[in-house]
Amino acid sequence: MCGIVGILSHEPVAQRLVDGLKRLEYRGYDSAGIAVINDNKIRRCRSQGKIVNLDARLAQEKIDGVIGIAHTRWATHGMPTEENAHPHMTEEVAIVHNGIIENYKVLRDDLIEKGFSFYSQTDSEVIAQLLTFFEKESTSHLEAIFKTLDKLEGAYALGIMFKADPTRLYGMRKGSPLAIGHGEKGEMFLGSDALALAGLAENLTYLEDGDLAVLTRDNIEIFDKDHKKAIRPSQRYTAGFEAISKAPYDHFMLKEIYEQPDVVRQTLNTYLSADKKSLSFPKLTFDPDSISKLTIVACGTSYYAGLVAKYWIEQIARISVDVDIASEFRYRQPPMPKEGVALFISQSGETADTMAAHEYAVSERQQTLGIINVPNSSLARAVHTPLMTYAGPEIGVASTKAFSTQLCVLAAFALHLAHERGLVSSEKLEQHCHDLASLPNALEQVLGLAASCKDIAEDLSKAQDILYIGRGTSYAIALEGALKLKEISYIHAEGCAAGELKHGPIALVDENVPVIVVAPSDALFEKLASNVQEAAARKGQVVFISDKKGQQAYHGDALARLTVPDTTVFTAPFIYTVPVQLLAYYTAVHKGTDVDQPRNLAKSVTVE
Ligand code: AGP
Repeated sequence: MCGIVGILSHEPVAQRLVDGLKRLEYRGYDSAGIAVINDNKIRRCRSQGKIVNLDARLAQEKIDGVIGIAHTRWATHGMPTEENAHPHMTEEVAIVHNGIIENYKVLRDDLIEKGFSFYSQTDSEVIAQLLTFFEKESTSHLEAIFKTLDKLEGAYALGIMFKADPTRLYGMRKGSPLAIGHGEKGEMFLGSDALALAGLAENLTYLEDGDLAVLTRDNIEIFDKDHKKAIRPSQRYTAGFEAISKAPYDHFMLKEIYEQPDVVRQTLNTYLSADKKSLSFPKLTFDPDSISKLTIVACGTSYYAGLVAKYWIEQIARISVDVDIASEFRYRQPPMPKEGVALFISQSGETADTMAAHEYAVSERQQTLGIINVPNSSLARAVHTPLMTYAGPEIGVASTKAFSTQLCVLAAFALHLAHERGLVSSEKLEQHCHDLASLPNALEQVLGLAASCKDIAEDLSKAQDILYIGRGTSYAIALEGALKLKEISYIHAEGCAAGELKHGPIALVDENVPVIVVAPSDALFEKLASNVQEAAARKGQVVFISDKKGQQAYHGDALARLTVPDTTVFTAPFIYTVPVQLLAYYTAVHKGTDVDQPRNLAKSVTVE
């Protein structure tokens, strides 16, 4: 997703702008650029592709100044070319934009009629042209900005600077996050998130939706959506970027897979009691006994975490759960039960579809909870009850440790609901909590399969199509495993409920198709084993992931077997996720793809 950095200083800013963009690379992008004001001119340098290309251009063009804005672009409107890269500008003003201006065509046509010329295929350029138009019609830049914003429909986070006033930077947000960094020594900063500002400022202010911030070197003024002055709290953010490097691993994704024992431990420490015999769950805004239905909404990997939770909550807490992907839910607009409860899961806390789905649930008078990894993110500030995960910043676009920590919170939530509804005794609760508390060690153990996964991945990397199958919560892990593989290795992969194989997908199976089987020896094992036989009988290349008992029980052919520790209803999804993460990782490494920043993908999809 796009990234914004802005710096207002009394020293040259170009290098620090580029360094800020480098901290945002993890969000995914396809072009980048900076603009500065110097000698009463706006000077711009942009490049297609990675930031190293921008560095090279800057070494030639040597632009600099004491005020500047910068941007990494993830293309939405217009190809990822230099012409479409931000900043977009006229002689008078330069802007950087995250989001989508939905009515840009109408605005563009109107401006062309007024004699304006456009040089890109982007929606964002219309903002720079509108500001130029309104600057001539306004008594102040603030007025010109307000007039421009009133014309815009859609979502934006914006950084703006006017040639005529190099003492001010403007930042605003509507649907896309933006933070202000309070510098020392007469500096101020703008950034899409705390990481953009790491190393520049530790004292941050997050703008609220509709806010406009006016930055001078020693002051910040914030105006709310009604153009009234507003005060927003600031907080310290000290997890500086230097703490986030991939060393000693080759990729952030592998590092984050190996961080799972620790971050699972940290997250469980928040939701289990100190003696790990019961829960310490936050106070809820509803009575668990009164819930008729729980709605869970998310996207991608977060949706698969919600799917695991559906099985847990329905089986343990006896509450009906409706799980949906946010992009469908928000337009399906289902009637929701009075006094119902809706749970939103989002690592970034900024996914546009999930945010919009949340707004719909609130309009249906639902009590809302969010399971979120990024503090102060939009969703964390929007839900009635934020339930934070403690995975730390997840840099790899493919989500791994965030998923595991989401499962931690969901398992604790399921147990909390069940216990509050009198469906789980304190003794049984103690047993479940003990099982969860044993997860970090079990995860350390299952990471020992890395070498085996690396060997199997060599075969997988030659496949055109790969099937993942499972039953119950293992069906959700099959879906997650397929997503991991396809998003980083670009091999087509499909997760399938094992019982569904014979209803169509088994037509895909032949000697060229690996079938990854997620098979804990649980109550569904026998049924799953016969589905595996169906695939093996058609020469499917079975990779059988199970515990010792399951391996002994499955006598069919297999390309490979991976044996994991014994598990329980709560620990199985955690343990079986690690092999499918490792298989995806090593397959992508064999394929030579960009594991941490796969093509076409972004870490946080803040556009719909
Ligand atoms: C997962 O590996 C993908 N990167 C993607 O599906 C992701 O889970 C999805 O975009 C949701 O992101 P969120 O958790 O930040 O809302």
